[in-house]
Amino acid sequence: MSRTPLIAGNWKMNGTIAESEDRVASLLPRIATAEHVDVAVCVPFTALQAVVDSTRGSRLEVFAQNMHHEPSGAFTGEISAPMLTEIDVHGVVLGHSERRQLFGETDKVLQLKVPAAMDAGLTVILCVGETEDERENGDTERRLRHQVQEGLEKVPVERLGEVVVAYEPIWAIGTGQTATAEQAQDALAFVRALVADRSKEAAEHVRVLYGGSMKPDNAAELLALPDCDGGLIGGASLDVEQFVAIIDAAPR
Ligand code: 13P
Repeated sequence: MSRTPLIAGNWKMNGTIAESEDRVASLLPRIATAEHVDVAVCVPFTALQAVVDSTRGSRLEVFAQNMHHEPSGAFTGEISAPMLTEIDVHGVVLGHSERRQLFGETDKVLQLKVPAAMDAGLTVILCVGETEDERENGDTERRLRHQVQEGLEKVPVERLGEVVVAYEPIWAIGTGQTATAEQAQDALAFVRALVADRSKEAAEHVRVLYGGSMKPDNAAELLALPDCDGGLIGGASLDVEQFVAIIDAAPR
């Protein structure tokens, strides 16, 4: 089974509309021939429309970074799936550890968000990952099992293979400290095995990404791991040269 790698840049809360347009204008010509990978950028809400418009007809996919599970209602400050699809956004990052840790996002609510996004036609990148304490206490697999099983519980088995899961060890995010190749491969394979518990066929299709201080100098090793189908890149995705170097490091 060959899965097309996905290299996704998570810009987090970085980028006015003007900055976002500048960044994609520099990026687009650099990825025009990168046919060995799918490339996405996960953009702040306010810049989504502008980035979608300036990337129309290109290979670059545009993702949001969060979404409410209801289509509309009294949820002040939230954005729904129909609001994203109306402006032709391709997908959405759900359950990023920053949303879990800083904004109280739970596995229970992700259980609703993931199928709501998929029903609306959005590609989902579901983020999972353990804290440093959980790793040190030998709780990594328990944590990942909970996050993957809960997050995907309401996804029908025939659509399970469409999901992208990003394994992002929290201790590696923004710290410059990456998982070793062995730690990353073990966790990525474990995530795939959890999907296989529901469907072996879906597990062959599902893309599992690594995220957490992926940089040009460690990307080739991580992206070559047997169960690594791409990367979710934070800091390095804000620098077009670094992001392109990571795209170039993906296996052909
Ligand atoms: P860094 O690449 O900055 O560590 O961030 C990773 C991440 O959180 C991507 O979602």
